[in-house]
Amino acid sequence: MITPHGGKLVDRKATNTEREKTLKEFESYHTLTLDKEDAQEIDNIAYGVFSPLEGFLTQKDFESVLESGRLADNTPWTIPIVLDVEKRELGDAKQGDTLGLVYNDTPTAIIEVEDIYEFDKIQFKTKIFATTDESHPGVAKVDGMRPLLVGGKITLLNDIGNPYPDHTLSPKQTRALFEQKGWKSVVAFQTRNTPHLGHEYVQKTALSITDGLFINPLIGKKKTGDFRDEVILESYKALMDHYYPEKHASLAVLHTEMRYGGPKEAVHHAIMRQNFGCTHFIVGRDHAGVGDFYGPFDAHEIFNEYPDLEITPIFFRSFFFCRKCNSIANDKVCPHSGDDIIIFAGRRIRAMLNEGEVPPADMMRPEVADTILSYDKPFVE
Ligand code: ADX
Repeated sequence: MITPHGGKLVDRKATNTEREKTLKEFESYHTLTLDKEDAQEIDNIAYGVFSPLEGFLTQKDFESVLESGRLADNTPWTIPIVLDVEKRELGDAKQGDTLGLVYNDTPTAIIEVEDIYEFDKIQFKTKIFATTDESHPGVAKVDGMRPLLVGGKITLLNDIGNPYPDHTLSPKQTRALFEQKGWKSVVAFQTRNTPHLGHEYVQKTALSITDGLFINPLIGKKKTGDFRDEVILESYKALMDHYYPEKHASLAVLHTEMRYGGPKEAVHHAIMRQNFGCTHFIVGRDHAGVGDFYGPFDAHEIFNEYPDLEITPIFFRSFFFCRKCNSIANDKVCPHSGDDIIIFAGRRIRAMLNEGEVPPADMMRPEVADTILSYDKPFVE
């Protein structure tokens, strides 16, 4: 089985004895209150989704990620996983202290503070998102960040709650699942959308050359106008029930935030899927993009900078429906253009669904469209 990124699967969950002891001491710690996204990142660190990270980035790693898209020890890492705080929240906390981290009024984790540092938001935005335009949702998030970052290892004490326990698997569990299924090669598919036929063909083309397909929709904070989590999950279940062989395809959600970081986020997405035990990763058109901030294939090119990544990206051009070929095609295999071609533009499909219109069957499976239309409010508001 493919090794986790950086060599070993991180496990930062407290053992029973550790947990009991730490919970007893918890009252004596200075505490920070977590928002949902911070709590989720702690959960991801603890379960090894972000291996080799064992905690929030220290200054050395943070600056290295911005500068070179790598941790200070040269391991590929493209998205800063950081804990931002206000100065007043810290009290007199300093390097070397252990702080309690509270989420939903529950002691959730502790952090052993390695450093507390200021950061430059402009640097963050330009290096990661390649723009400072505040209409970019990733940039807007950085603009709203608190001014100090706390770096250090975390230990998870209590799970943070999960609305989809039946569809969530940890990297340890997916690795066991792939083994049990006898899949030696597994291609992962990242998505933040309900599936259209373009998505399906990308997945099935990749599956034609691997043993298994792992569909791993991203569940978590997204921008207004994106599909809601439940709608994505239910529409994938409808698609897979009708059109995917159980023997070769499985579905589980990934709980993390969408950052809309295009190429940088594509590498991050691939790294997480390596941790889940996938050997291949699909990167199609405008992966993790938003608006026109990135070129349609920028997320392909960035992988040239990471020859040392173990997971293998599989790149796809745009899939579309061609009336002349009377099939799904892409510009590598089909010579037609203009009116012959129906592009699977997510924006167009969303506009149709918004009007209560059923997208045509050569764009979206009827079972998927029916599932989406069964919701009064399928979109994030
Ligand atoms: S993303 O933000 O998660 O990338 P989306 O869910 O739409 O958005 O895409 C999931 C994956 O499918 C990405 O790798 C994306 O590049 C790819 N993709 C989406 N639509 C197409 C298409 N028509 N042709 C080829 N690849 C596509």
